[in-house]
Amino acid sequence: MRRVDQLLSALGYCSRKQAQELCDDERVTVDGAPLARASTKVEPRSVRVDGEPLEFPEGLVVMLHKPVGVVCSHDDRDGRLVYELLPERWRRRDPVVTTVGRLDKDTSGLLLLTDQGPLVHRLTSPKHHVPKVYRATLDGQVSPEVATRFSQGLLLEGDDEPTLPASVTMVEPKVAEVTVQEGRYHQVRRMFAACGLHVQALHRVRFGEFELGSLAPGEWRSLPVG
Ligand code: URA
Repeated sequence: MRRVDQLLSALGYCSRKQAQELCDDERVTVDGAPLARASTKVEPRSVRVDGEPLEFPEGLVVMLHKPVGVVCSHDDRDGRLVYELLPERWRRRDPVVTTVGRLDKDTSGLLLLTDQGPLVHRLTSPKHHVPKVYRATLDGQVSPEVATRFSQGLLLEGDDEPTLPASVTMVEPKVAEVTVQEGRYHQVRRMFAACGLHVQALHRVRFGEFELGSLAPGEWRSLPVG
């Protein structure tokens, strides 16, 4: 049970003060009846605002098909943000909705976003070896030597440790499928660059147990929490 004013403000609907105004205007109902006092403790699932159930009151996990050109940042000065592709209200949620790791501005594909801190940790910690699968369009072919170097781990410029074993295979004439277990800065582009190959386009198709499937660029869908 939670106070309605706390609940509505944590879910980005309004400030705690405005919650009482919503109640005064009979826009908040609990089990179908208008709620008089915003300080009342309620079961989140029983609350409606303007007749609509609350959005993801128990936590939020979504998969977004990130298009090229948007950035994984909370700072408007960085350009067009991935958060602009999601409902505006989510930007006021507390706990904050963040990306699970990042994709570069020029990378497209599967991006997870959540307000569940432990999930972010579980999916991004290198200790957990969560596989991430990318399709990389290259300016050349992946030779057996490149595949061996990926599988043995590469020491990338500026890093202290070699990369964890990764696999790579050609799936189309200029497209390789790569599976990595970490999420280092520009990792896939840097791994190919270390082998003399340039990545012309990069697209993530899988993150752990989650597959992008047929989700269209810029679209999102929710996933079960927990
Ligand atoms: N590797 C990269 O180089 N870029 C990404 O966005 C993700 C992995």
